Amino acid sequence: MEDLIAPSILSANFARLGEEVDAVLNAGADVIHFDVMDNHYVPNLTIGPIVLKALRDHGVVSPVDVHLMVEPVDRLISDFAEAGATYISIHPETTDDPYTSLGLIRAAGIKAGLVLNPDTPVTVLDNLLDQIDLILVMSVNPGFGGQTFLPASLDKVRAVRARLDDSVRNVRLEIDGGIKIDNIRAAKDAGADMFVAGSAIFGSTNYVKTISAMRTALNA
Ligand code: DX5
Ligand code: ZN
Repeated sequence: MEDLIAPSILSANFARLGEEVDAVLNAGADVIHFDVMDNHYVPNLTIGPIVLKALRDHGVVSPVDVHLMVEPVDRLISDFAEAGATYISIHPETTDDPYTSLGLIRAAGIKAGLVLNPDTPVTVLDNLLDQIDLILVMSVNPGFGGQTFLPASLDKVRAVRARLDDSVRNVRLEIDGGIKIDNIRAAKDAGADMFVAGSAIFGSTNYVKTISAMRTALNA
């Protein structure tokens, strides 16, 4: 599968969000990563489905990767499906029944993702793999942009990749947190094929240069 670069709008300028999203897509981004936080599962509060709908109405046609850090999660799944999500990822701790929640996502015609926090064992995938289109490995603890990459997450990516290679289905392996130009290649070498970067892209002065440098590192 080709590598996908997914800027996290958590680090965008929210006062002009539509232009920011247009700018990173024009600069070569593949997917928009949309972080939803509830001040309950994580100690931060961000954006909901009306913001996704506003981006779609603004004319954003790229895939949008919704990362739900909310508890309880099920009721928001249909709201984000209607608002225009392409992927919806959930944390297993936020639902009584992850299998059913992943099924709700897929029943809405959306690609379903499961998120592994740094302290979540890969065994959480047992019995869930047949409901999963995407596995998101957190390389920081969820809640904030701009945190430092946790190197042990590369072992987690390798462990997930080994499980996926044993299975027949095509599942995306995404990494989220602290990804920069200088570590994106290590994440790819560990087995990731979808790369979230918030502060590294939106905190840079030239989105084209930053995304091109990431692409060059991935293709080197
Ligand atoms: C953290 C979020 C990330 C975050 C990444 O909870 O899930 O998507 O925005 O930001 P950076 O790339 O700055 O670590
Ligand atoms: Zn995220």
